[in-house]
Amino acid sequence: MEITLTAIKADVGSIGGHLSPSAELVARIEEVITTRGNGLVRDHFVGYTGDDIAVLLVHDQGARSEPVHRLVWDAFQAGTEVAKRQGLYGAGQDLLKDAFSGNVRGLGPAVAEMTFAERENEPFLLFTADKTEPGAYNLPLYLAFADPMYNSGLILSPAVGKGFTFTVMDVAYTAADRVIELSTPEETYDLAALLRDNGRFVVESIRSRADGGQAVSCSTTRLRNIAGKYVGKDDPIMLVRTQKNFPATGEILAPYAIGHLVAGFMRGSHVGPLMPVRAKTGVSFFDGPPIVSCLAFCVHDGRLTAPVDVFDHPYWDWVRTRVSQKVDDIRSQGFSGPAMLPQSDLEYGGITERLDALEKRFHLDSGPHA
Ligand code: F6R
Ligand code: MG
Ligand code: MG
Repeated sequence: MEITLTAIKADVGSIGGHLSPSAELVARIEEVITTRGNGLVRDHFVGYTGDDIAVLLVHDQGARSEPVHRLVWDAFQAGTEVAKRQGLYGAGQDLLKDAFSGNVRGLGPAVAEMTFAERENEPFLLFTADKTEPGAYNLPLYLAFADPMYNSGLILSPAVGKGFTFTVMDVAYTAADRVIELSTPEETYDLAALLRDNGRFVVESIRSRADGGQAVSCSTTRLRNIAGKYVGKDDPIMLVRTQKNFPATGEILAPYAIGHLVAGFMRGSHVGPLMPVRAKTGVSFFDGPPIVSCLAFCVHDGRLTAPVDVFDHPYWDWVRTRVSQKVDDIRSQGFSGPAMLPQSDLEYGGITERLDALEKRFHLDSGPHA
């Protein structure tokens, strides 16, 4: 049977700054999904990572379905009411437009969705990250789908070894969705040349070259492009189907042991390592560090199993300790050099104003050494 997975993520308010949503806020969103989604969606899951709520829906309405997106939009609106009542910080932060118009793309929330014929066994992963941007998934996806150092299936499994087709979006282009398809292994170096630039080129989806099946859908929202100014980072959500013709679950997870440096730490303006965390982890130190959580599900006849929290394991405790060391290393140099993002990517205008004011005071030195 054909189903659609729709995963939508938004920050509609959190306790104590940009840390975690309240239990009441999460409960209200789940209540709206449960009551109003009855008859429309087959199953749902509601969770959170940092200050962002993630809603996962299983349904048969296809991608970009108006009633499905409206349901989630309305649930986030209802959550915003709770956030306002509780005085939560940033109430309604990611709902950038006043009115719903067709689907939530371009309105603020991050969306990942895919439609496929359910396999006999259908395992998939839901990734949610906070204090970072969609390009944070570029390196882990490249390593899991295109590098035999991380994906042993590329050399062990004939189906996986056929390679994958990546659709990459140029998120700096705002007039329309500007994308390119690149297939590995032949175009691996071209792919790397794009994916090194996390702020500009973002993996939107990946398909198997063995059977054309979609393995990955990743959100590509740029809140700044929608709002025209800084309104928070584009904390990304991603769905990944695993096993058989796709990488194994563990191969998808392996690159998260790196704790690679990504944009989005404190004020969306600093660089920090991406820490794999348990579900429902908030943020703390220096409004971070950037975090990613991952829940593993199976779906059958449109019904979800209870999820497994994959980063809740002793191995990842050790990774977290190591990543914490990387956090301290980069934070020890404060604003200097690569610890802070380049001026073009800063999410606050203060530095630009300061530099503009100083510009007038620069002069050509005509002293003795000139
Ligand atoms: C929010 C974030 C935070 C805020 C910071 C200041 O996702 O990254 O680091 O930028 O807490 O927030 P404001 O400007 O709202 O006081
Ligand atoms: Mg926030
Ligand atoms: Mg957030």
